[in-house]
Amino acid sequence: MSHDDRLPRDAQSILELTARSMFDLFANASEGMMLVDREGRVVWINDQYRRFLPALGFEREEDFVGHPVSSVVHNTQMHQVLATGKPILIDLLTNRAGTFVVSRIPLRDDAGEVIGVLGIVLFDHPETTLQPLISKFARLEQDLNEARRELASQRRSKYTFASFVGSSTAALEVKRQARRAAQSASPVLLLGETGTGKELLAHAIHAASPRAGRPFVSVNMAAVPDTLLEAEFFGVAPGAFTGADKKGRDGKFRIADGGTLFLDELGDMPMSVQVKLLRALQEGEIEPLGSNKLVRFDVRVVAATSRDLQQMVREGSFREDLYYRLNVLPIRVPPLRERRDDITLLIEALCEDIAARGGGAQLELGADAQALLAAQPWRGNIRELRNVLEQLALRSDSPHIGAAQVELVLREAGLPALAPTRASPRADDAGGPLGEALLRPLPEQIAELERRAIQQALARTDGNRTAAARLLGISRASLYDRLAAMGMLSENQTVV
Ligand SMILES: Nc1ncnc2c1ncn2[C@@H]1O[C@H](COP(=O)(O)OP(=O)(O)O)[C@@H](O)[C@H]1O
Ligand SMILES: [Mg+2]
Repeated sequence: MSHDDRLPRDAQSILELTARSMFDLFANASEGMMLVDREGRVVWINDQYRRFLPALGFEREEDFVGHPVSSVVHNTQMHQVLATGKPILIDLLTNRAGTFVVSRIPLRDDAGEVIGVLGIVLFDHPETTLQPLISKFARLEQDLNEARRELASQRRSKYTFASFVGSSTAALEVKRQARRAAQSASPVLLLGETGTGKELLAHAIHAASPRAGRPFVSVNMAAVPDTLLEAEFFGVAPGAFTGADKKGRDGKFRIADGGTLFLDELGDMPMSVQVKLLRALQEGEIEPLGSNKLVRFDVRVVAATSRDLQQMVREGSFREDLYYRLNVLPIRVPPLRERRDDITLLIEALCEDIAARGGGAQLELGADAQALLAAQPWRGNIRELRNVLEQLALRSDSPHIGAAQVELVLREAGLPALAPTRASPRADDAGGPLGEALLRPLPEQIAELERRAIQQALARTDGNRTAAARLLGISRASLYDRLAAMGMLSENQTVV
């Protein structure tokens, strides 16, 4: 008679034998058991479980038994099993007492209703030790936490008010307004030409606000294709689409929760998204794409634009209600030519930064070089000034820079290189130095203007050609034609 003959061959007996074996298995493999009632309260623990109490932070049994399981066992899933009625046969649970292999089994009454859950801490059997698996899991979890911390610190803002260089009346006034705005919870609207420091101020406002410890998250309307903006803002529910987004994706509102959401180039936001943004701001809730659940958020909005929003409202290309919603604390950031007194300080600060990043010696500009720079109209403001200084640092062998070198770099950058005048230089006066610069062959000037406009647009959109074409009001194809004609198409990404 073989051993096999002792095995039953009918389903009922097989099940009974299995149930008995499983019962023994669980009883022997258990290093502790806990029972939770229908309300999710711990109603019983066995002697073995009691040994965990000190490590879980409880001196006395009555501080543990009788309390909701979710408030006494960190990271527990017992209430989940109560809610779904589905067992979790094997799981890893990590809390302050360590990492454990656990099993959670719903208990049902005769009618099949879930009346409680049995939680079992499984015995770590010496022969089949799970320790390597558990320590691998613990290590991965630690790595994940580190990565999360790092990500969070990257999301913290880069600049403070000290980074905003300037001691002119205009600069001090901007900083005063921005500091006040930092203390308020209302939306801030930063208005000013490109390169005036709007983004820098948005960071600084966040850093000086009570939300400084929480994320600073930006969305640039000019850099994200219209069709993707909605997903970018509101996120995508898992399974909403097939393919790359199958797993779902958090939107910027969600990522910025508790912190600041920076809407850069607000004037470039398409109408369809304006409607949805307004609704989100009014309701304080968003609906991720493909989900029908509303998610509450808590973000402070700071927006910036170089466009004339009021004009856009009149033309009907920007929603009036959204404009009023965001225009609560408007701050006008003046262009560089309205605060020429800051140029010397700015040159020094920018050269210091360029040297620190590039590792070279810090440039020293002679008085004539500084005067020449101060006379320029700086349509691209501080960003443009920085570009010119970077070019100077790249081009010259010596850190000492004279007016001739500045002039050369200005011309190569397609800037008119206006001569400094003794009287207060008003670069925009038609009869002034600009008037002289205008007396050159027209095709040459037009080509120069076109080149500058395209460079500006690409700089503004971080090299995104679709967005640049939109800014310039020309088609993408037309932008490509012009770039090709100028020999600027060879490089892959950015052209500036
Ligand atoms: N007041 C300032 N002091 C020092 N650097 C500045 C100042 N304003 C702007 N910048 C620098 O000029 C560049 C453009 O500023 P940014 O904030 O991006 O301008 P905007 O968002 O208005 O286009 C950045 O490199 C920024 O650090
Ligand atoms: Mg900007």
